[in-house]
Amino acid sequence: MQIKSAQFIVSNTEVEKCPSEKRPEFAFIGRSNVGKSSLINALCNQKKLAKTSSRPGKTQLINHFLINEQWYLVDLPGYGYAKVSKVQKKKFQSYIESYFRKRTQLLLTFVLLDIRHPAQPIDLEFIAWLGRHEIPFYLVFTKADKLSSNAIDSNVVAYQKVLKKDWEEIPLCFVTSATKKLGLKSITESIGDLLIDFAAAK
Ligand code: GTP
Ligand code: MG
Repeated sequence: MQIKSAQFIVSNTEVEKCPSEKRPEFAFIGRSNVGKSSLINALCNQKKLAKTSSRPGKTQLINHFLINEQWYLVDLPGYGYAKVSKVQKKKFQSYIESYFRKRTQLLLTFVLLDIRHPAQPIDLEFIAWLGRHEIPFYLVFTKADKLSSNAIDSNVVAYQKVLKKDWEEIPLCFVTSATKKLGLKSITESIGDLLIDFAAAK
């Protein structure tokens, strides 16, 4: 599957106001600054489709991008951003939670993790929350350009070891770099496979 066109559609805080047609969609979530918006831009081969920033907390809304005029990529705000107020954090949390719980057309979520860091409680808690709500997800390690290939391998293995304590099966893992355009094809191929399964199940 190739991404041939990508178009910003709408930003929202309310899941009820997200696009109402039942097109399949794929969401990107993870800590603030992990590289969600950059990865979406890299996948779509556009520089400024999703807004990025070196300062955490850039994406604050649920953003829908229409791909190939058929399905959506969804850029979400990051969790774990220390500088927002408690009230703001609760607000984020509640609309992100309702997005995941109510968005029945969400086929799969990509949970992004910075390849440089060992497993962080906030990510493990979020992954456990997805598990409890039976929301399917894959893991995407970001910023692979910052490490050597040996360090990449050992960090992925170490992460999977942590996950094995709680999970019988480890979800698919991708290693990516938005800057160096690494690992993008495997992500679009996995999306393509899921879209084929979705069409076949209809
Ligand atoms: P929020 O919207 O704040 O939650 O952040 P985000 O997860 O969308 O991160 P964003 O894409 O805005 O990127 C955050 C910073 O990381 C920016 O300075 C990016 O240039 C940088 N970045 C993102 N991906 C990569 C990557 O693959 N490699 C490197 N070296 N930097 C990256
Ligand atoms: Mg963002």
